[in-house]
Amino acid sequence: MTKLAAKEIAGLDPYKFMAVIGKRVIHPGGRASTESLLRRAAITESSRVLDIGCGVGTTAIEIAKRHGAQVTAVDIAPLMLERAEANARDADVDHLVKVEHGDILALQFPGDYFDVVIAERSPCSSTGRKRPASWRG
Ligand SMILES: C[S@@+](CC[C@H](N)C(=O)[O-])C[C@H]1O[C@@H](n2cnc3c(N)ncnc32)[C@H](O)[C@@H]1O
Repeated sequence: MTKLAAKEIAGLDPYKFMAVIGKRVIHPGGRASTESLLRRAAITESSRVLDIGCGVGTTAIEIAKRHGAQVTAVDIAPLMLERAEANARDADVDHLVKVEHGDILALQFPGDYFDVVIAERSPCSSTGRKRPASWRG
């Protein structure tokens, strides 16, 4: 796992900082809002799920553990991807959770590839020059 110097930590955005200090759920509403989302998503073992802006992989891992579904967990930040991979391994679901680098604004998957697409807070914190003005905040 990457260890960061104080100067590097000072330069992190708040979400990466939260990941570095071990926070695993980084969206408004916390785990309760994830539970509500998962109830509505009606995921089964055969669902193909995309979690875009997956952070450290908490929701993707929960879906894999709970339903045995294949989850593709995508994030733009290498630090998040590294932690998501490690967390999926620790939870013994790395055979179900595929962690990939990707940009929510330029996803390469076919339009009908996933049955369920989850994006918890990531559209609002999306980085990149193409980000629509309505997403800034
Ligand atoms: C607030 S965190 C939410 C993480 C996770 N979904 C959760 O709820 O715990 C936002 C995440 O979106 C990612 N992100 C930001 N811009 C992105 C982009 N353009 N494409 C993909 N992920 C992005 C960040 O790296 C970060 O992991």
